[in-house]
Amino acid sequence: MNVSHASLAEWGSSHIKLRKDMIILDVGCGGGANVNRFAQFASDGRVFGIDYSPTSVKVSKEVNKKYIEEGIVEIRESSVSYIPFEDNTFDVVSGFEAYYFWPDLVNDLKEIHRVLKINGVLLLVNEGYKCENKEIRKIVENWAKLGNFKLHSPEEYRDFLSKAGFSEIEVYEQKEKGWITAIATK
Ligand SMILES: C[S@@+](CC[C@H](N)C(=O)[O-])C[C@H]1O[C@@H](n2cnc3c(N)ncnc32)[C@H](O)[C@@H]1O
Repeated sequence: MNVSHASLAEWGSSHIKLRKDMIILDVGCGGGANVNRFAQFASDGRVFGIDYSPTSVKVSKEVNKKYIEEGIVEIRESSVSYIPFEDNTFDVVSGFEAYYFWPDLVNDLKEIHRVLKINGVLLLVNEGYKCENKEIRKIVENWAKLGNFKLHSPEEYRDFLSKAGFSEIEVYEQKEKGWITAIATK
């Protein structure tokens, strides 16, 4: 997971401006590669990862051992539906290949909105969406069927992000690869 998603994550992250002192949360952090990448940059900030899978939490902690010891990174076992942080905590909340599995998309995004600071930014980066490329679309629709999750079009991203209370919504597509990135502001 950490290796196969790296170029997607780098492309997606290139759409936001990071500062060294940012407080960042990665939701559904999986193997912890994106937490690690953020921690390399946010040397004067903090990077948190949450994941509801104990196995992902364990791997994330191993991958980020050095940064955890330095007090830059913290990984917690938690669902996106009940994020264990106070309101207005984060400058950036990210979800890489994660939103497909969230049980109640708009409410879970409202929970992310709650923990973002005013003007904080949500970054969603995904390999599968309702893209125009018919060949890629067929492949991702098959994944979605197997994984029992829903895909969305760029217009539907704008709609669910706006329903969750976000503004300044920008959606970027990498049409040749079938990748999508959405950025939205609290
Ligand atoms: C496809 S993996 C992506 C992992 C990582 N973000 C990456 O890009 O490599 C999705 C992750 O989301 C986590 N996840 C799924 N549903 C979740 C939920 N409701 N709350 C928190 N984490 C969840 C899974 O345990 C898994 O680690």
